Amino acid sequence: MARLEDIQRLCLSRGIIYPTAEIYGGLGGCFDYGPVGVLLKRKLLEYWREFFIKAEENIVEIDGAVVLPEKVLIASGHVESFVDPVTQCEKCKSIYRADNLIEEKTGKFVEGKSPEELTRIIKEEKLTCPNCKGRLSDVRMFNLMFKTFVGPTGDQTAYLRPESAQNIFIGFERVFRASRAKLPFGIAQQGHAFRNEISARQFVIRAREFTQMEIEMFFNPEEEGCEKFEEVRDEEIILLTREAQMHGKDAIRIKVGEAVEKKILPNKWMGYFLAREFQFFKSLGFKEEEMRFRHMLPEETPHYSGGNFDLEIEFDFGWKEVVGNAYRTDHDLKNHSKFSGEDLSVSLPNGKKIIPHVVEPSFGVERILYAILLKSYVDDKERGWVWLKLPKRIAPFIAGVYPLVSKDGLPEKAKEVYKMLKKEFDVFFDESGSIGKRYARADEIGVPFGITIDYQSLEDETVTVRDRDSTKQVRVKIDELKKFLKEAIS
Ligand code: GAP
Repeated sequence: MARLEDIQRLCLSRGIIYPTAEIYGGLGGCFDYGPVGVLLKRKLLEYWREFFIKAEENIVEIDGAVVLPEKVLIASGHVESFVDPVTQCEKCKSIYRADNLIEEKTGKFVEGKSPEELTRIIKEEKLTCPNCKGRLSDVRMFNLMFKTFVGPTGDQTAYLRPESAQNIFIGFERVFRASRAKLPFGIAQQGHAFRNEISARQFVIRAREFTQMEIEMFFNPEEEGCEKFEEVRDEEIILLTREAQMHGKDAIRIKVGEAVEKKILPNKWMGYFLAREFQFFKSLGFKEEEMRFRHMLPEETPHYSGGNFDLEIEFDFGWKEVVGNAYRTDHDLKNHSKFSGEDLSVSLPNGKKIIPHVVEPSFGVERILYAILLKSYVDDKERGWVWLKLPKRIAPFIAGVYPLVSKDGLPEKAKEVYKMLKKEFDVFFDESGSIGKRYARADEIGVPFGITIDYQSLEDETVTVRDRDSTKQVRVKIDELKKFLKEAIS
């Protein structure tokens, strides 16, 4: 498997993803997408919309503001509880996330422990600063939100949203009514989230600004109405149960229907989304054994939650969450109702009013993109260069268009083909260097096809199309190129 450094090097050299304000030394945990990266990201966002939103009849989308007034985040609990424990070296002043440091140094799982308990463990284990061996301070809690002040007087406190979900809860009443909806009803959103992580690290894996794709599926817990559950009942997923984690056992393979019946999963909506996520990642080329749903342990789970299941992927550095799935019950709507004074309940057909419950799949775009780059990275000794076996539907460009040589009317003909395709596809034109070099440059950013215009093209209106994966070439009529590419993408 490739390593983080390989992906980072490729991302930098091809301008896919690079540090924000690089010429000023960067801003830790913030990244910009370059021309190739932006296409890759857009395609992932669009494919996710197709798979999770357009395929459903009862999910709508919103696009909310990233700056939220303090009241929202007091109601959601983030002002009080969105904290991580930190300890600081008294000598060199380096700051560490205390639970991570303890886990790394001792192997003990300490997530969810109080600052006092963490301080005690640091002392008992005689842990010192990894940087200079200095003494570590008592552990204190650090709020991860970025605070800001709105308007010229600065008297209104606000925060950059730490999750996109809150816009959905605070807009629920309006969106529900405007959509003339009934339960079950989903609201989805793609957008940026911000967390002032104590140590931003592992490239985009732990960033301070990142992109989420979230769905809040609202339903009546007494009558879930998850009709499409029947379509996925027999889908098998890989599940690391709480029991397995506590006894060091392996993950199990289980049908979602069985997992719901045995009450391992709290409801059909959770089962439905886990099955769909497994299908989604498989369609992006992930192997089943590279994925698992981990039932989060009680100490990792918020008190109001009816169950959290992280979709984890096996990276070069170990397993890591890429999608958080949470049964948030009626916690958020109830609290926003209480703090805003607005009635956020929904009337059922029988006249009864309820606060809907919610299941939330929350995807992290950057972690998924990193996983895709990692899994598609091929260090091909035979070919002599690195290439990306990206799934065709999310490849930044579907094809490069090349004149075989830069003379005899071939560039003009190639430009014609390029302009014709550019109206419908992301394609690029490249006439510099040998054709081999052009293939190599395109392979490196995962371009599935290379379209070459040669002397025969001038005679019979055909071109050669080189397949990135097999390197085989076929001759295709110019007027059939669009059909060829469309079929390849779908
Ligand atoms: N609304 C629920 C929520 O935000 P989360 O598990 O904290 O849940 C969801 O985040 C996803 O967002 C994660 O699975 C991960 O992919 C992504 N994510 C969270 N923190 C991140 C960070 N610092 N950098 C990059 N991605 C992050």
